[in-house]
Amino acid sequence: MKFFLDTASLAEIKWASEAGLIDGVTTNPSLMAKDLGDLDPREVIRRICEMVPGSVSAEVVSLGAEEMYQEGKELAKIADNVTVKVPMTEAGLIATKRLATDGIKVNVTLCFSSMQCLMAAKAGAAFVSPFIGRVDDIGQVGMDIISEARQMFDNYGFDTEILAASIRHPRHVADAALIGADVATVPTKILKQMMLHPLTDKGLSQFMDDWNKVSSKGE
Ligand code: E4P
Repeated sequence: MKFFLDTASLAEIKWASEAGLIDGVTTNPSLMAKDLGDLDPREVIRRICEMVPGSVSAEVVSLGAEEMYQEGKELAKIADNVTVKVPMTEAGLIATKRLATDGIKVNVTLCFSSMQCLMAAKAGAAFVSPFIGRVDDIGQVGMDIISEARQMFDNYGFDTEILAASIRHPRHVADAALIGADVATVPTKILKQMMLHPLTDKGLSQFMDDWNKVSSKGE
């Protein structure tokens, strides 16, 4: 399973990339608005692409099919590893088909059902992003979308990658991995939580205490 970092924070991406913990990055307009600072959005994407060799999703902010297509083509020029992110709308699917036909990778975002995932795959999306946490938030089971999409894609041989998004905790990542999602995109806080377990800390502390009791003997 690939791990993407779900942020536009250059500092967080630098840390995770240099640590070798991530395979790519996803951004969205909300994340960009939060971390843009004084920089131009294209410059932020360019800098992320320099730091991370894998897929970097940059989202269009147009709503019409033609406008999304033109905006997507411009975003794709920023770097070879840009994946153009488009919303799961009728216009988004038309833009996806056109961008994919031009050889540009597309991530169809804001997917909340397996049917939407299947439509996006048929349009030629390289990635589909089911938003697990937001579905859980309204009392439904977000992970069901991943299971159903996995089965659908396998039934028909789609190579569209399932990118589990809107991840709220490490268990979401574990469940998505068990089902066979190709990618999980996680906020930095969750990536850090994924490395932690209280028994690891307790065990390490015990090892160090025991070792320190005998290590002074050789002095
Ligand atoms: C995916 O690419 C989105 O950026 C993201 O996962 C949305 O998550 P949220 O529901 O935490 O905003």
